[in-house]
Amino acid sequence: MTPARIKSCTFQAFLASLVLIGPIILAQKVPNCASTLGCFSFPAITSCPSPDEFWSPTAVLGGCCPGCVRGLALGTPCSTSATTETTTDAAETPSTCAPGLVCGVGSVCRLNTGDCLSTHHVPDSIQWVPQCDSRGRYAPKQCRGDQINGRCFCYSAEGKRIFGWSWRNRAQRMTCACSRRRADLEAEGRFDVTLHCTPDGNYEQLQCDQGVCWCADSETGTQTAGTRAVPEELWSLLPCYNETLHGVQYLRRCESVAFSQILQRKQFIIRGHRDVTFTDTLCEYDGSHGRYIIEGQEAACTWHDGTKLNPYKTSLRTLSAMNCNCARDEKLFMLAGREMALACEGNGNYVPLQSRNGELFCVDPDGYVVAENVPEQTSFGKKLPPESPPNTMGHCFTFPREPLILYCCCFIITATTAVDPPTCDSSYGCISSIRQEDCAKGEILISSGSLNGCCPGCRGGRTYLAVCNLNIPDRLCAPGLKCVGRKCIYDRSTCLHTMHLDKDLVGWIPKCNLDGTYAAKQCRGDRLSGRCFCYSEDGKRIFGWDWYRNTERMTCACSRRRDKLEKEGRFDVTLHCTQNGNYEELQCDSGLCWCADELTGSVQLGTTVVHESLWELLPCYNSTLHGESYLRQCESAAQAQKLILKKFYARGTVGVTFNEIPCDYDGAYGRYKVENGVVYCTWRDGKKIGSFQIRSSMLSSVNCYCARDTIIYREAGIPFTLACGGNGNYEYSQDQNGQLFCVDSDGFVVTTEVAPNESCDKFIYNSAFYDED
Ligand SMILES: *[C@@H]1O[C@H](CO)[C@@H](O)[C@H](O)[C@H]1NC(C)=O
Ligand SMILES: *[C@@H]1O[C@H](CO)[C@@H](O)[C@H](O)[C@H]1NC(C)=O
Ligand SMILES: *[C@@H]1O[C@H](CO)[C@@H](O)[C@H](O)[C@H]1NC(C)=O
Repeated sequence: MTPARIKSCTFQAFLASLVLIGPIILAQKVPNCASTLGCFSFPAITSCPSPDEFWSPTAVLGGCCPGCVRGLALGTPCSTSATTETTTDAAETPSTCAPGLVCGVGSVCRLNTGDCLSTHHVPDSIQWVPQCDSRGRYAPKQCRGDQINGRCFCYSAEGKRIFGWSWRNRAQRMTCACSRRRADLEAEGRFDVTLHCTPDGNYEQLQCDQGVCWCADSETGTQTAGTRAVPEELWSLLPCYNETLHGVQYLRRCESVAFSQILQRKQFIIRGHRDVTFTDTLCEYDGSHGRYIIEGQEAACTWHDGTKLNPYKTSLRTLSAMNCNCARDEKLFMLAGREMALACEGNGNYVPLQSRNGELFCVDPDGYVVAENVPEQTSFGKKLPPESPPNTMGHCFTFPREPLILYCCCFIITATTAVDPPTCDSSYGCISSIRQEDCAKGEILISSGSLNGCCPGCRGGRTYLAVCNLNIPDRLCAPGLKCVGRKCIYDRSTCLHTMHLDKDLVGWIPKCNLDGTYAAKQCRGDRLSGRCFCYSEDGKRIFGWDWYRNTERMTCACSRRRDKLEKEGRFDVTLHCTQNGNYEELQCDSGLCWCADELTGSVQLGTTVVHESLWELLPCYNSTLHGESYLRQCESAAQAQKLILKKFYARGTVGVTFNEIPCDYDGAYGRYKVENGVVYCTWRDGKKIGSFQIRSSMLSSVNCYCARDTIIYREAGIPFTLACGGNGNYEYSQDQNGQLFCVDSDGFVVTTEVAPNESCDKFIYNSAFYDED
């Protein structure tokens, strides 16, 4: 046997696959390997001569050939800032972690499970580790167990189990080439791959992708000899086309559903509906149904036909940990007439620590034993309470969670990719019940106050009117203030400025969110006759109110949504809000209709989004209530006017002015209308209220809240005693039988301690008095 020849063969295969994968990805790793280069020294993986040397596919000849490199072993202290220069002096100690390891938490070398070479460092007590290919990547086919019950699975290059499996005794021709290809393409960001794999991860005979169809070799996916690729509309002319088998459509049922969902979602996102959630349909690489289905806030394990595998499910927050391997195997073994004597967790995963006849053993996520005769006691010397369920972590440590493998009695390579550094919105949980009251005097609770701006915390700074300097860290203004002319003044772009107002003077201060936006629901007065109103993020009152006592379920989510969409420039939003700013049950917008959750507006469980022409088929459609047209009277009139306007513009008539018809978010007429240069306050039916009016040049100052409240209070049977201004707004200064007091624009009293010649402005948080710019 001539080792050198074997080596160069392997090396050529290595280069060939490099070309396939694309030179960009591996270019940094393998610089300038001329194809004529032969790799003459090729030690077998186990045969590195010295204990601090480890096999690497890119060890020698500029990273072109495999060999042994020196590196720090698992568990050895390391330094992340160490020089990367590799030394050839055998006497010197290596400075970086060995291939497959990474200098991790606590500055010791830890397993990098995304790298298959990490398996070379796993202690012998672990009964199975994945196989690597000649380039040190995870091999596509990984086999487990014996010839009878053993199985082979397909793996991605990063060691994640992907679609495709077979019983071990039938896996001779299994290559996983199709599964690997799809996984690679999807990892590159292609979400419309339509390659079809067989259940064992090989290629189906007939393939279509990106508008082209061809007859494929099942092990490699290349065109079978003597056939040609054709445009997809000619697919039935291919020799591998079989009418009984393939029918009239290439996409399988699950795929059709998934694709139409993607299209629908795109349309929604284009129109600005970012928060509307859809039920995601996941499909496997053979076009069958994915391993779970998402319904509301839960995900349930499913079989290939989409039926649920009861009772296995989990909440969306823990979805990433769910693999449903055990749930699916249970059914698989049952259908195959075999016995599966292992226990599943509630989420359909295998219980890592299993027990049989009183003996404890560990299984990996695929259900194969990795350690037997596990002692009852945990390796950390703590004994579990005897009743504790066997699946509590503590006996079987999975690698990413508990890297202190030197102490573990039992150890599983879960080949998930290495855990990313935590980012604010993913893995960090801000475990904190901190309140403003917990902050020191002068400090303000904000959403980004601690942990690198990821979690809420108290922030202080210079107080109102104190001297400040933007360039000196301890001379910055407190949150809610800004430094202008070396003085801290109110920053009215954030709600937090109200925390600095003199609370003895200002009669009412709105609620803020920790991020500086205004709370959506702002309540005034007492629980008996008080009212709550909807506010925009930037502190403007928007559509939606209710009596305080009725507001437990009031979210203002619909009003907020519409306000936001309109600010983004969409003037054709047709979401319908209820009087209190929540969502009406039936919603249509951007050509689609759906049954909405009242509080969030998301699609109701078990219902779908339909094209607007089909809205009467929705379960929430009620002919008495909704009639023939989704748009209300005001909305239809407003739309008609916009169309006319468009026509005028199209003909070049620019100077014509039209009276805009403002509608409320519930489809009723807005608070005012403009006619012949005059603004009139109007009720919901479009009729004028009293004689409130003002020149249209003053339009921006008109809110008609007082005018409308005269009717609201009358309908509620409550006497209305406040004075309105001629424009329909509340007068700030009120006088009842000589008793002087101030109200704000919502008509709520802010002070009764006002002198006859005094202005009310300083008692009102958003008045001109506090506008310092
Ligand atoms: C077409 O597919 C059906 C169903 O799998 C099979 O029974 C039949 O033999 C196939 N016909 C040809 C010509 O291969
Ligand atoms: C339809 O709406 C009307 C009017 O609100 C109501 O009385 C009726 O109960 C509704 N019908 C159904 C089936 O919900
Ligand atoms: C209001 O009037 C009182 C006397 O009537 C006077 O002393 C005071 O300065 C006046 N205040 C203002 C703000 O004009």
